[in-house]
Amino acid sequence: MASRIALLCLLGLVVASPAVADYSGSYYKLSLMWPGAYCEQTKAGCCKPTTGVSPARDFYITGFAVYNATTQCSNAPFDINEIIDLPGLLQYWSNIKCPGNDGRSSWKKAWKNSGRCSGLEQKDYFETALALRSRLNPLVRLKHAGIEPDMGMYSVEEIKRVFQTEIDAAPLIQCSKGSLGKFQLFQLYFCAVAENGTFIDCPTAPAYTCSDEILFPPFEKWMLKQQQIKYAALYDPMMPAAVAMDH
Ligand SMILES: *[C@@H]1O[C@H](CO)[C@@H](O)[C@H](O)[C@H]1NC(C)=O
Ligand SMILES: *[C@@H]1O[C@H](CO)[C@@H](O)[C@H](O)[C@H]1NC(C)=O
Repeated sequence: MASRIALLCLLGLVVASPAVADYSGSYYKLSLMWPGAYCEQTKAGCCKPTTGVSPARDFYITGFAVYNATTQCSNAPFDINEIIDLPGLLQYWSNIKCPGNDGRSSWKKAWKNSGRCSGLEQKDYFETALALRSRLNPLVRLKHAGIEPDMGMYSVEEIKRVFQTEIDAAPLIQCSKGSLGKFQLFQLYFCAVAENGTFIDCPTAPAYTCSDEILFPPFEKWMLKQQQIKYAALYDPMMPAAVAMDH
């Protein structure tokens, strides 16, 4: 009887929890956001960064954490000069939040919240994340499998299978609700063994809600709003100062 209950529990667990790697060592977790979904889901829309460099028409890094690193947290303050010249930083770790900004606050936050305790030096931390992203190259892999940001509906399992086949690990998929009220592809999370970079299924998997089929919304550069509205408001003599300050 006891063993039967144990077996049922075991079966229940197997069914309820997604496949996760049986790995307890130190690993990376990279979060990649699809900008087309971001532009759709927020009322404010998305804005062109003020860096003067166009962000890529691709997935952007929104987070990079190193878990289970046995390390002391560094006290080194964020220093933009260490990373600003890293190839791909402005294109692939872009902040398209409105009002338009130069990305500095998101890099600073990443360093403060995750980088400091990653065991990596500042430059290495950002470089490692960018290198992982470029190895993953998710948009190209998806396109090769016929999964494109064309407003089409795609199976979540199919998206996972693309990566399972190519890198032997499936991403966690986070959806958001777009303007049409449908679930859409918002973020992909990938994990990799810290020592050797081998991709693995993420050892801990929060449950994200998606429908079986999700929308892959387009992303075009014209969707990124420019700053005119802000300046128009600032210089409009009819606009009460307090309102203008708010923007
Ligand atoms: C860290 O490793 C331990 C086992 O050594 C594991 O139980 C734990 O879930 C890991 N933490 C994370 C965040 O993966
Ligand atoms: C990378 O590390 C993991 C965990 O230690 C190990 O299972 C895997 O075989 C390693 N892969 C390579 C290519 O060394």
